[in-house]
Amino acid sequence: MSLRLGVLVSGSGSNLQSIIDASENGIIKSKVVVVISNVPDAYALERAKKHNIPGIVINHKDYPHREDFDREILGVLKNYNIDLVIMAGFLRVITKVLLDAYPMKILNIHPALLPSFPGLHVQKKALEYGCKFAGCTVHFADAGVDTGPIIIQGVVPILDNDTEETLSKRILSVEHKIYPMAIKLFEEGRLKISGRRVLIDPPLSVDEKTFLTNPPILF
Ligand code: GRF
Repeated sequence: MSLRLGVLVSGSGSNLQSIIDASENGIIKSKVVVVISNVPDAYALERAKKHNIPGIVINHKDYPHREDFDREILGVLKNYNIDLVIMAGFLRVITKVLLDAYPMKILNIHPALLPSFPGLHVQKKALEYGCKFAGCTVHFADAGVDTGPIIIQGVVPILDNDTEETLSKRILSVEHKIYPMAIKLFEEGRLKISGRRVLIDPPLSVDEKTFLTNPPILF
């Protein structure tokens, strides 16, 4: 089914771009019909403009309460008849105002393998912790910080010579694949929620013998 997507952003918007591209290339049927930024000069707004998608600024600093900010966003989402809300680098925690209006219809992406490393600067945290893998997660949003049911995760190795920048770039390139994929599964009605688990119906075939190690096994 083709859904009307409303995308919430705060920054560069490379995930927004990957979704616009997936839509224009027919990888997903859904279309981005409005972009809302809480940051007035976010580059994501330029990207929206280049694709003739309306970009609307709702600055959280103008709203003393999170709920008022969310009500303003909700007004725009309703105006544009949005079916599915996509948080793409949107650095605000949302409240019941949005969650109740769009139950299990708000997705978020996070640059870590949740539930490890919720919050900010997580690529640096994974690197400094000494993890051998990092990655990204698309999940349903809930009232917590990066806590909702997980839809899809992507894994990348952490290399010995990585910096925060090189690792972030590697993770981001996978984000650009898993977000359109999650939207595709959603629009096809294939996401079945069972408690905290999100199952794919019908299932995609996954080689159950697949595993990764870093460093690789040498024998
Ligand atoms: C991404 O790493 C996303 O996971 C995180 O913020 C970054 C946003 O990147 N929440 P962009 O604005 O989509 O380029």
